[in-house]
Amino acid sequence: MQIIKNIDELKEFKKNNKNKSIGFVPTMGALHLGHLSLIKNAVSNNDIAIVSIFVNPTQFGVNEDFDIYPRTYQKDIELCKNAGVSAIFMPEIDTLYPNGLDDEVVLIPPVSMAKVFEGAIRENHFGGVLRVILKLFNLISPTNAYFGKKDAQQLLIIKKMVSDLFLDINIIPCDIVRDKNNLALSSRNVYLDSASYEMALNLPNAINKAMSLVLANTLESKIIENAAMACLAGLEVDYCNVVDYNLKKIQEIQKRNSLLIIAVRVGKVRLIDNCWF
Ligand code: PAF
Repeated sequence: MQIIKNIDELKEFKKNNKNKSIGFVPTMGALHLGHLSLIKNAVSNNDIAIVSIFVNPTQFGVNEDFDIYPRTYQKDIELCKNAGVSAIFMPEIDTLYPNGLDDEVVLIPPVSMAKVFEGAIRENHFGGVLRVILKLFNLISPTNAYFGKKDAQQLLIIKKMVSDLFLDINIIPCDIVRDKNNLALSSRNVYLDSASYEMALNLPNAINKAMSLVLANTLESKIIENAAMACLAGLEVDYCNVVDYNLKKIQEIQKRNSLLIIAVRVGKVRLIDNCWF
């Protein structure tokens, strides 16, 4: 497995692997089993797989956890090597943003998708995500790029960018990976102490409740949201809504175009989860 730090090395690597299909998994490192399931998909379904590890400053707000975001590079490298990854791209900030952060062309995602839910409390977050993802897509030219369904809003906005900008890349959504108690895996779960962890399990309970209602053909959004909210008693709920794939609130589930998205706070830790119908 090659560890690539700069753009010339990346170009050389691509030249040596011309005409091969590339599966790409963009990450910010601190890899867990959720990332590994994306990586396994990329490795199995492409000639070569590239993982990027880059804690992207432009998607963090001023009061967010950029400085303390977990950085576990040696462990991440080992995990990628064991999973059969062909190359890791680990650029420095200057490599991806050679003109600085404030003086370049930026992408603005539609307000209707990017300023709601996660975007309502994380100013410019999705603009920062699109900015780095477009750079990575242009540098890596993947055939297939893998994203977790857990970050539903991110996934839907990236799909929109790919469609609006006619990018020739398949976006492959991958299922949420959960721990033995059903909590969705996240790099931020390490911040939960045992009491908070117990409380956090109400989140997957709410998801399961919603899923079982929809499987029993209850399609009215209010009923599903209220049932999920009842499971979340005791948690500070930021939102719990049924939306369509444009992130618009809808009155009734439309199969294959709806999801329930939830964000809660457990003490200082903010967790998100969702289910796709
Ligand atoms: O989901 C993430 O880890 C990040 O938002 C991503 C997609 C790697 C962009 O920095």
